[in-house]
Amino acid sequence: MKKMLNVDSISVSYGNIEALHEVSLHVEQGEVVCLIGANGAGKSTLLKAIVGLEPLTGGEISYEDDIIARRAHENGKKGIFKGHREGLLRTDEIAGRGVALVPEGRRVFADMSVEENLDMGAFLVRDEGLIARKKEEMYDFFPILGARRKQKTRSLSGGEQQMLAIARALMGSPRLLLLDEPGLGLAPLIIQDIFEKIRIINEEDGVTVFLVEQNARLALNASNRGYVMENGVIVLSDLSANLLENEKVKSAYLGE
Ligand SMILES: Nc1ncnc2c1ncn2[C@@H]1O[C@H](COP(=O)(O)OP(=O)(O)O)[C@@H](O)[C@H]1O
Ligand SMILES: [Mg+2]
Repeated sequence: MKKMLNVDSISVSYGNIEALHEVSLHVEQGEVVCLIGANGAGKSTLLKAIVGLEPLTGGEISYEDDIIARRAHENGKKGIFKGHREGLLRTDEIAGRGVALVPEGRRVFADMSVEENLDMGAFLVRDEGLIARKKEEMYDFFPILGARRKQKTRSLSGGEQQMLAIARALMGSPRLLLLDEPGLGLAPLIIQDIFEKIRIINEEDGVTVFLVEQNARLALNASNRGYVMENGVIVLSDLSANLLENEKVKSAYLGE
């Protein structure tokens, strides 16, 4: 297995508040890795840092042997970093390398149709024929989206919108899929459907998955390895099967 994503001792701050403190983790090609932690632990901040949406105050992130983000040079003034993307990759460039984020709360475009949302996901694809084929692939994989392709996205249920958010991310044929709480606010049966799709995306399409979840049981059951984050710090990491048996995880996250 090849190390695909390497997060090396990164820190991220919002003003004077440090949201991530020297976080290190890695994802190898082909794996499903999860990150669990309570609300406010810093999970979404980590995903945003990986795709270049939050500047680092320390550490660096590499993807397939290239550094994609690192601490910026200080501008002299405390807390202000000049050109933090200087020499590094912008969010669209990181997407172009094959990293796609399905953001928390789905963030689909409510006033656009299902099809238009998928077109947005293909913004880096120049080949019209490929875009059309990818859309058909998505409609086969998520038949409910095919049935509703002309409908406004706001008329979709939460589960359907989550499927659309995942399909939109897949339009660019990513090799690393980052998922931020795909189960949030959905009914258990819908969550099962979505996690089954995630399994297929990984096992059959070979997409590497990094999954962030508050729902620890769900995430650990769906992954090979896991990390536990508390207050911006990684406090545990192990095979998911071991974390499911870990006494601390059981009492703090599994309600046992
Ligand atoms: N844009 C922001 N501005 C200020 N503080 C933020 C911002 N986003 C997140 N935070 C704070 O950073 C911490 C981590 O948040 P977040 O990464 O969203 O956690 P999680 O995804 O694990 O719930 C929380 O204390 C949150 O309030
Ligand atoms: Mg979050």
